[in-house]
Amino acid sequence: MMAKTPPPQTYRVKSFGCQMNVYDGERMAELLDATGLSPAAEGAEPDLVVLNTCHIREKAVEKVYSDIGRLKREDGTSPLIAVAGCVAQAEGEEIMTRAPAVRMVVGPQAYHRLPDMITRAGMGERVTDTDMPAQTKFDALPARRKVGPTAFLTVQEGCDKFCTYCVVPYTRGAEISRPFHDLVAEAERLVGAGACEITLLGQNVNAWTGEDDKGRTVGLDGLIRALARLPDLARIRYTTSHPNDMSDGLIAAHGEVEKLMPFLHLPVQSGSDRVLRAMNRSHTIESYLKLLEKVRGVRHDIALSGDFIVGFPGETEAEFAETLALIDAVGYAQAFSFKYSARPGTPAADLASQIMPAVMDDRLQRLQAHVNHGQLAFNRQSVGRTCQVLIERRGKLPGQWLGKSPWLQSVHIIGEAAIGDLIEVELVEAFANSLAGRLVCAEPLPRRLSQAIGTRK
Ligand code: 5AD
Ligand code: SF4
Repeated sequence: MMAKTPPPQTYRVKSFGCQMNVYDGERMAELLDATGLSPAAEGAEPDLVVLNTCHIREKAVEKVYSDIGRLKREDGTSPLIAVAGCVAQAEGEEIMTRAPAVRMVVGPQAYHRLPDMITRAGMGERVTDTDMPAQTKFDALPARRKVGPTAFLTVQEGCDKFCTYCVVPYTRGAEISRPFHDLVAEAERLVGAGACEITLLGQNVNAWTGEDDKGRTVGLDGLIRALARLPDLARIRYTTSHPNDMSDGLIAAHGEVEKLMPFLHLPVQSGSDRVLRAMNRSHTIESYLKLLEKVRGVRHDIALSGDFIVGFPGETEAEFAETLALIDAVGYAQAFSFKYSARPGTPAADLASQIMPAVMDDRLQRLQAHVNHGQLAFNRQSVGRTCQVLIERRGKLPGQWLGKSPWLQSVHIIGEAAIGDLIEVELVEAFANSLAGRLVCAEPLPRRLSQAIGTRK
């Protein structure tokens, strides 16, 4: 038992990693607000710190320990510290042993029980909860509070794919879809709170399935079509998808649902069939390219995005060159690329043929040069298009605003606007990571009118 501490009044949640972690971090903050705590003021030390951790790539664990160390005060005491997220799930016991300052370890499926854990930690207990009953978490969380113009909505969690490099199936558990009705209700609340764009999240979001309001079993496209009926919701996005779960219905939705934005993040990881087999990806380059062709068949302007891993154990220079060739052939609008990181407990970590770090560095740089080239080309071919931009925040210059095009490009404009406006913009100049836009009409269109005008070109 540790010393008793007065109940915390203020908190800070620090989230690392993917968008699902950001979503979880927001939900934890809402839960703490509902429990009577308030966010600590900027620069002030909070009574409670939640480190919402990520385990997907290297050094994540070391980062957690150094963060914990940094929270120590001069007199050797610390605020109440909770370690949440995937590192908590994977290494909970070890954290408790190695970091005595940590009072709570809470896994991604258990954070709805934080208030009770905080009470127990205040009594001097050290509490670990890494149970995985995914369904109850969402039921137990408070309603969504005020949100910005774009919001995340987790619709699916977990993964059954077991790619040989990946910890997600172990830290997030099996694939689980949240019920249709709960999601429509949460989306309605988000829209009511000010969101006009919702990004549906899931580790394998396109594996989502549920029963719609008529009792029919539907896939993600069914959910998207239902959400598209919310009058004040202007844009729908989803991420991250697996090629094997890209159903014909979902592809068709890209051609039919105006509010579904022309953007698809579809990780492929490697351009070599041998590497894909070793990764247990269960798709080939041919099947992946066929899929992209189908999607482009219904939505020719779709922006494609992907994830790539360089230096998977045994990856030869020739196999790496196949990945570069794939990137050039597809013409991605953007992509994320990572050096392979051996994750303890995953099958690939035990392969003998691990690649030297210097080789990985070199391959990552070369790959990113191809991605940047493709991205600039994609941005350049957007110049001259007129589209809607959803304004998300102010820019650095006076009168400047930043927003997103339908293709998820960052667009900056100068003129009259406000956060949450959907405005008609002509894209006039392309850069590596953004575009400059020019307002087409001075007055922002009322949202519904601007939706009716559409964005296709
Ligand atoms: N090493 C490097 N990258 C990884 N990813 C997942 N696991 C690893 C790993 N062990 C990448 C994949 C995945 C993205 C979310 O993170 O590209 O799509
Ligand atoms: Fe990890 Fe593969 Fe599942 Fe994606 S599909 S979360 S990379 S195991």
